[in-house]
Amino acid sequence: MAYENILVSTKGPVGLITLNRPEALNALNKALMTELAEAIDVFEADDAIGAIVLTGSEKAFAAGADIKEMQSKSYMDVYKEDFITANWERITTCRKPVIAAVAGYALGGGCEVAMMCDFILAADNARFGQPEINLGTLPGAGGTQRLTRAIGKAKAMEMCLTARMMDAEEAERAGLVSRIVPADSLIDEAIKVAERICSLSRPSVMMAKESVNKAFETTLREGILFERRIFHSTFSTEDQKEGMAAFAEKRKPQFKNR
Ligand code: HXC
Repeated sequence: MAYENILVSTKGPVGLITLNRPEALNALNKALMTELAEAIDVFEADDAIGAIVLTGSEKAFAAGADIKEMQSKSYMDVYKEDFITANWERITTCRKPVIAAVAGYALGGGCEVAMMCDFILAADNARFGQPEINLGTLPGAGGTQRLTRAIGKAKAMEMCLTARMMDAEEAERAGLVSRIVPADSLIDEAIKVAERICSLSRPSVMMAKESVNKAFETTLREGILFERRIFHSTFSTEDQKEGMAAFAEKRKPQFKNR
């Protein structure tokens, strides 16, 4: 597939998608988001791929939705095309793990896209923000919701109301990112984490992802019940038998993704 706004490659079982509009700090226009959704479709359908890393450049993961593309749209334009939902949501429906490897700016839609991923690894130069208020609007791809769930009301409110950016240290303290790594080893580290995930039982990984996500979507009681049922279901897999047998026999498990 020929893409113009992203670079796509594989590193063994890991699919790597690199946002690539350097002239606009990876501003997320329609063409880019369409390509991103297509690349996810391709990796999702490919049995050889177990996890995806989504990254940008060292200067910007993405500086937001493309302001120049958005600026002249009317209410009817954005309403009729349900502006942004279709393509952008594709990240959240991917059943394989998606890791955001964020260096530089992750602003507005860029921060929202990072938060749609399963977790964020941050380079030490990463900066997160929801500056839409500067443009006379507000986050429109989940920023007010996912950021608030991730870091709590006080910090999310301050960021959305003032456009203040958070650096990597603060983002880690606040729980927005899982870890900080030096900028020059960000991709290697993200691929290493993704490879580790790929070495495990894929059905268990998918179920664990689904179950953690449930915590954001339902009550504690329902979430616990969901987790218990899905935990029970792993006892029907060959991988659970293999994983526990390997422990008892003091050897490495050989998962077959079944
Ligand atoms: C379109 C953008 C852009 C964006 C940067 N560029 N961000 N173009 N949309 N979001 C372009 C600039 O116009 C410029 O193009 C080039 O990228 C380099 O940017 P500079 O501003 O010259 O770089 P710098 O001085 O280093 O400043 C970096 C920056 C700044 C602080 C990140 O670019 C910035 O504030 N960008 C906008 C951030 C933002 O407001 N994001 C939220 C967007 S709204 P030229 O052609 O001049 O060289 C949003 C809503 C999401 O995301 C809701 C759901 C859709």
